[in-house]
Amino acid sequence: MDKIVIHGGRPLYGRVSISGAKNAALPLIAATLLTPGWHTLHNVPDLRDTRTMLRLLEILGARWQRQGSTVRINTDQLTGVEAPYELVKTMRASVLVLGPLLARLKTARVSLPGGCAIGARPINYHLSGFEQLGIRTSLREGYVEARVEEQLSGGTVYFDKPSVTGTENLLMASVFAQGETVIKNAAREPEVGNLIEMLETMGAVITGKGSDRLTVSGVGELCPAEATIIPDRIETGTYLMAVAAAGGEVEITDCIPAHLPALTEKLQACGVEIGVRDSGFTVRCPLNQGLACPLESVDVTTLPYPGFPTDLQAQFMALMALGSGASVIHETIFENRFMHVAELERMGANIKIDGAAAIVRGVGRSGLSGAQVMATDLRASASLVIAALASRGVTEVSRIYHLERGYEKMVEKLAALGADIKRIPEA
Ligand code: EPU
Repeated sequence: MDKIVIHGGRPLYGRVSISGAKNAALPLIAATLLTPGWHTLHNVPDLRDTRTMLRLLEILGARWQRQGSTVRINTDQLTGVEAPYELVKTMRASVLVLGPLLARLKTARVSLPGGCAIGARPINYHLSGFEQLGIRTSLREGYVEARVEEQLSGGTVYFDKPSVTGTENLLMASVFAQGETVIKNAAREPEVGNLIEMLETMGAVITGKGSDRLTVSGVGELCPAEATIIPDRIETGTYLMAVAAAGGEVEITDCIPAHLPALTEKLQACGVEIGVRDSGFTVRCPLNQGLACPLESVDVTTLPYPGFPTDLQAQFMALMALGSGASVIHETIFENRFMHVAELERMGANIKIDGAAAIVRGVGRSGLSGAQVMATDLRASASLVIAALASRGVTEVSRIYHLERGYEKMVEKLAALGADIKRIPEA
């Protein structure tokens, strides 16, 4: 297994372009199952997770081809309705095929995802939502078996907490349902909006985009889609924080600043200079005697969109480890998303976990030093890379397959900005 080796202490300068969003690409790829034909998706990032989703579609009978960042998918003949354990265990978002399979073929069998590194992550909201549409679900041999009893009919679904993939699954399941389906307390993440736009171009009738109440009026048929994946706001935020950590001046292009309201505010409160443009950011942290400007410590609480994203919590913690005071980071979305803490401590961070809060006592700009660390999940890996960029000495990050699930060409992009970063085969 490969590892990433980073010699820290190099500021970042230049320009970096943001790829398509993993968490938008996955539901949009799944949505091509809804109706036969050739679908065209643009700006699809080439990641381990998008490859896994395309592999799952192949297992279900679809064919696809990639040209650059455009992926064409043919779903004329679906020959299967099962997402096997081997795939679901590597990528929980595989459950996104449930909604479209139920809408089109009235039946689906998907391995129940087990717990994962960041929490239990059940799919009970998806299943109880399906029940409201006339779908019967049962659990057999570790698989969720779901079947439309008579016909899909609209209903009202209320989520106790906004669920991103839950909202997406229900949207896809209900496009052909008779009457109206109302999803209350729906997730408002931009990735949900991207899926709604795709479904609308296919002929679906949905109102409420961007709000927590979505209404789907069932239609008789859909046509194949042509859609563009939105830029990855989590990748964008990760680069903003990489520059804030390493110092320097970088232009971040091909992204949507409006999708990062909370992070932009927080970084400015830390003293990072951020310029907002139509489709990009400039981020600046000038150096003084070799050290980037001091970082104010600020508190953060993760919340559903438009709150501070849980997917940027680990990276923000790496930044706060370099702060000049104390910062309290509350994680309210996932119960176990502090796996990076122990690794950051190996690099010299001073962090104490107290239930769902982490108290980070900043060790200052020159307080972290390189170490051998292990990635535990996708965003935790990114936080270790950020810490490493700002550390004295050499950091080796192992288990980088996590990083490859969600960051397209991260090593190349950081190296192009001047980071001393290499990927080397691990013995
Ligand atoms: N929840 C339930 N039951 C459910 C569904 C969710 O209790 O049936 C709870 C979860 O345990 C969590 C909260 O509801 O406490 C919200 O979870 P959500 O369902 O929104 O998470 P998800 O849809 O499984 C997506 C992203 C995650 C991201 C979360 C939160 C995709 C493919 N994944 O997961 O992305 O952290 O929303 O924003 O969209 C990542 O990219 O690193 C990642 C983990």
